[in-house]
Amino acid sequence: MKKVRKAVIPAAGFGTRFLPATKAMPKEMLPVVDKPTIQYIVEEAIESGIEEIIIITGKNKRSIEDHFDRSVELEVELEKKEKTELLRLVNSISDMVDIHYIRQKEAKGLGHAIYCARTFVGDEPFAVLLGDDIVHSDDEPALKQLIDCYDEKQATVLGVQTVAKEEVDKYGIIDGYEMSDRVYTVNDLVEKPDVDKAPSNQAILGRYVISPAIFDILAETEPGVGGEIQLTDALKELSKQEDMFAYDFKGKRYDVGNKLGFLQATVEMALRRDELKVDFLAYLKTIVDQERIDVE
Ligand code: G1P
Repeated sequence: MKKVRKAVIPAAGFGTRFLPATKAMPKEMLPVVDKPTIQYIVEEAIESGIEEIIIITGKNKRSIEDHFDRSVELEVELEKKEKTELLRLVNSISDMVDIHYIRQKEAKGLGHAIYCARTFVGDEPFAVLLGDDIVHSDDEPALKQLIDCYDEKQATVLGVQTVAKEEVDKYGIIDGYEMSDRVYTVNDLVEKPDVDKAPSNQAILGRYVISPAIFDILAETEPGVGGEIQLTDALKELSKQEDMFAYDFKGKRYDVGNKLGFLQATVEMALRRDELKVDFLAYLKTIVDQERIDVE
């Protein structure tokens, strides 16, 4: 039985939706409360049992590498000032896991970004985590739920949740049926369908466990929606060759790739923090009351 040990995290996009913040800074480094979004993703991978990570980067992404590397000057400074708690925090980031980096030289789409990881992955099943989707889960991390499903099925598993009908054109959508609790068989997939043509409203939300057979398919996949090589198109082809499942994972997912989703994540993550929740909630209540007064 093959184990899922490796994860691919694409982080090569331009982040145009967050300009000007992302002019000189990668969108993956934007903080939700006090942690870059990509750290939430890396932590989820580690908590799911992943041993090695490759981050697909592009131009302007050096600060991601710096973030997961040691910062000797900072460590010395914190040590001098006896800030042991902060020192531990800073060290824990660089000690997290083995992270590798590869540059996607051209922005040819998600499918192409994943293809860049083929040598790193080799002939093993692997996980993909997309940085725009942060998932908070009080149970198992979202990826762990998919890996458990993979262990049982030994086949590709896509992480899905139900989205509003009018939102299906933002996602990869599956056509499948629920065969057991939360597990769907996937018969077909379509990337960003028109709202009236979608086969369902089960959307792929940034978590995958994929069979290595995808690489041969990606090598041949033509550009699809938006002129980009789409992972969904390659998965559609894979579903014709091998079994494929979708898992309706538990957890609250935030789309930090758009401003409203990013703000929602910030507010809710802050409300989960012991040192912030009481004061922050009190503050939010005053804001909300104020708004009511203004509207009346
Ligand atoms: C990508 C995938 C899409 C998936 C989505 C999840 O789209 O192509 O299939 O549903 O991520 O966030 P993007 O958001 O990069 O346009």
